[in-house]
Amino acid sequence: MDIIRVKDYVEMSERACEIMRNQIKQFDSSVLGLATGSTPEGLYHQLIGEYKKGNMSFANVTTFNLDEYVGLATDDPNSYRYYMNEKLFSHIDLPDEQTYLPNGVADDLEKECRDYEALIKGAGYIDLQVLGLGLNGHIGFNEPGTPVDSRTHVVDLDESTREANARFFNSPDDVPKKALTMGIGSIMESKRIVLLVSGEKKADAVKQLVRGEITEEFPASILQQHDNATLIADEEALSKL
Ligand code: F6R
Repeated sequence: MDIIRVKDYVEMSERACEIMRNQIKQFDSSVLGLATGSTPEGLYHQLIGEYKKGNMSFANVTTFNLDEYVGLATDDPNSYRYYMNEKLFSHIDLPDEQTYLPNGVADDLEKECRDYEALIKGAGYIDLQVLGLGLNGHIGFNEPGTPVDSRTHVVDLDESTREANARFFNSPDDVPKKALTMGIGSIMESKRIVLLVSGEKKADAVKQLVRGEITEEFPASILQQHDNATLIADEEALSKL
């Protein structure tokens, strides 16, 4: 895994934006894998800026998000569909029908997972997957212990993940207990992976990722085995290396 060391969050976002812009410039019908959470917000802000300056178009791009909470409809402000619309999709020329997230209110969640996998396969798999890093090493919502060959599936969120995400909700009890997530196997099939990490609170996780063993107990460690994965991390995130 390559490591790009940057000064801070803004530079991390700029470097990620540059990689994404080059990807789309080279191949305008790229399939992008996207994440939510705090980490990629700066990247999305940069991408919107590039689009508004006329430097890039998303007209032929297809996107697949990593995950969605179970039980939150698309118009719920805490759903990841809502987040993506607010933070990126509604500001760029990416047609809605080319954006995919798992449907957290599907009647049959298992079927939804199978269908999501089939959609990714049908699109020719993901060219460039953006990931954030959970404090417990999760990628997507693949919590510690998730098998490396897992496909899109329903997960029980760890208490630590629910606590970490409670900041977005009115009350910690409102954080859903389940989510749908691409599996580790699905993520590893992406042709290129860019993992973004910023801030001192992720420093232990980054240390474990870079120096620790490859184990299902720390899901991001499997990225060490991907042949085109890049970690873009800022000085604070790298401070314990
Ligand atoms: C979000 C996702 C999660 C986050 C991770 C880090 O779609 O899949 O794995 O990337 O929880 O979250 P933040 O960026 O909020 O620290």
